[in-house]
Amino acid sequence: MKLTIDDVRSRFIEHFDGTTGSVYASPGRINLIGEHTDYNDGFVFPGAVQQGMIAELKPNGTRNVRAYSIDLKDYVEFSLDDPKGPKATWSRYIYGVCREMMALGVPVEGFNTAFAGDVPLGAGMSSSAALESTYAYALNDMFGNRAIDLMTLAKVGQATEHKYLGVNCGIMDQFASVHGKAGNLMRLDCRSGEFEYFPFNPKGYKLVLINSCVKHELVGSPYNERRLSCERVAAAINKIHPDVKSLRDADWVMLNEVKDVVSEEDAKRAKYVIGEKERVLTVCDALVRGDYETVGRMMYETHHGLSQDYEVSCEELDFLNDVAKEEGVTGSRIMGGGFGGCTINLVSEELYDHFIQVAKTKFKEKFGKEPVVIDVVIGDGSRKLC
Ligand code: GLA
Repeated sequence: MKLTIDDVRSRFIEHFDGTTGSVYASPGRINLIGEHTDYNDGFVFPGAVQQGMIAELKPNGTRNVRAYSIDLKDYVEFSLDDPKGPKATWSRYIYGVCREMMALGVPVEGFNTAFAGDVPLGAGMSSSAALESTYAYALNDMFGNRAIDLMTLAKVGQATEHKYLGVNCGIMDQFASVHGKAGNLMRLDCRSGEFEYFPFNPKGYKLVLINSCVKHELVGSPYNERRLSCERVAAAINKIHPDVKSLRDADWVMLNEVKDVVSEEDAKRAKYVIGEKERVLTVCDALVRGDYETVGRMMYETHHGLSQDYEVSCEELDFLNDVAKEEGVTGSRIMGGGFGGCTINLVSEELYDHFIQVAKTKFKEKFGKEPVVIDVVIGDGSRKLC
């Protein structure tokens, strides 16, 4: 489904007083490599996709936000001044963004809003970041004179996850949603916030997502536990090497030094992160040379680490990864936080049709339903549509 302004506008008009407001959009994201590195101060390599969220907003002259979710057919009204906020999960994203923007000094006023999205929910493509970024961008434009820079808007989304949804995520998803640029991936240093655009046009290859349709949900998942494991290992290393502030600064020797004071499980998590840090840099060099074989090999290694050491895979994702390998696909791995969602696959053009057909057939034979294929087109970040 390709969502259009009219899909949202027609419902906004129907649901509120017949007038129109301003319309904003923000995308979901893919990530080529660099998974679970963001909250370890490492590097990530995401890009925005064409699928995203679209929202229409219009000030209503009150202190209340009246919000309608077109997809869920659910309506919530809350006061901007209520310190607790609404209960429905989807509405807490909007509430959280409003409160965080107010905390930054933006004079947010009450508004009516309706929104919809075409990022598949639970696919690990960051529909929640798309929602947060849409409202952060919109409120900055409508009430804040655009005084807040894009990176701070991304941090508003991240703070919303932390404080209002209880997900202690890193910055990657919100960063990618806000900063995306068609045709470009972005390499972000999550410690310094510095980033560069990388034109991504892998001649002879396609990037395709295969959605296992196992719902990936970070709210209430072991995501926060993974983060805590990393922090415990970093703290143990820090006692010996005070310069080590996070796993970004750690290496194999250091990990070995603390292996008797951290749990075996925590050590496995850190092993994955330290390996992933090196893989991102290898991929960057390989991309500059146009060496997609190396990119693909790193993707398989990431999958192995996410599955065996970080333990955020599931049977369906491991199966899709095995099929990709058997069929000679250049690279394949779990994308995003894990616990369900998609694999991201770098496939040569000649193999593409065959691989998709085999993946669908074999997956259906084993799990009784077809996975959903999503071709990746790298799109733009947050913007005003009208
Ligand atoms: C989720 C989080 C991100 C990141 C990824 C894993 O998408 O929101 O911050 O940690 O998982 O790379």
